[in-house]
Amino acid sequence: MVRFGHKNKKMKSICILGVFVADLCFVGEKIPSEGQTVLGKKHIVGPGGKGSNQAIAAARLNGDVSFITKVGKDSHAEMAFNLYKKSGVKTHSIIHDENLFTGVAGIMIDKEGKNAINIVSGAAEHLVAEDIDNQIETIKNSDIFLTQMETPDAVTIYALKKANEQKCITILNPAPARKIDENNFQLIDFFTPNETEAEFYLNKKIETNEDIKLAANDLLRKGIKNVVITLGHKGIYFANKKQKFFLEAFKLERPVVDTTGAGDAFNGALAVGLANDLEIKEALIFANKVAGISTTKLGAAASMPFSEEIVDN
Ligand code: RIB
Repeated sequence: MVRFGHKNKKMKSICILGVFVADLCFVGEKIPSEGQTVLGKKHIVGPGGKGSNQAIAAARLNGDVSFITKVGKDSHAEMAFNLYKKSGVKTHSIIHDENLFTGVAGIMIDKEGKNAINIVSGAAEHLVAEDIDNQIETIKNSDIFLTQMETPDAVTIYALKKANEQKCITILNPAPARKIDENNFQLIDFFTPNETEAEFYLNKKIETNEDIKLAANDLLRKGIKNVVITLGHKGIYFANKKQKFFLEAFKLERPVVDTTGAGDAFNGALAVGLANDLEIKEALIFANKVAGISTTKLGAAASMPFSEEIVDN
């Protein structure tokens, strides 16, 4: 296993745009179905939001991370700032709007660690292109730009364009999947959908390994440079013009308790791998391992592994 994520002078910096929310998690035997009430086993309130989780993942792996978001003036925002302080995420690009409320997500988790999520992005829903312009120095000073689809579409795309102009390596984790104008796929250096998200962008079912390969090729044809389809317990598939391969999921020594945030762990770690100039395959092996380990702990941001855990595992 390569050694990675050690703070050194050569490491590139990472800018992440996204959402912070407080996750209200309910753990039980099963995720209730429509109209059903179940008795839960455990309840936790913790930090979440895909962008924020990715920032924590990257910072815990010793990434040099700045986070762009908007939060309200409330106890949830305090939770966010305390976490960033502890984790070393730079907060100069976080907009604090006292007229807004920070978002919340309701998360149901079953005994196998599977989840169902409903997120209300709150203050971050009010991000506008002007906010990105106001934080342009942060993007300019970064080498890698990572974002998702929880912020307003127009803002996500605007920020990707700006990051592209600044010659950042761009990573778009298209979660939750939302429409992207065909002209904008060329802005994306790394596109990291899961199977369901890839199906959304291609409007077709993905069932077999052959379907996965074809899907990745279809996505490349849209102008994306590197496609990573994450496959949960089956691992990942990678494709660009030169290489194509499957990677099996990392073999865990502990049981899976909660898969919430595994995709975020993957994306944050991929950014760190690239920031450390790892070869793409090495960066993906690293990210795959980080994502796997995150599933052995409860919570989203709380489950992001520290660099020592990765080396020791
Ligand atoms: O990816 C997991 C995250 O999705 C949770 O933390 C929740 O807040 C939602 O944004």
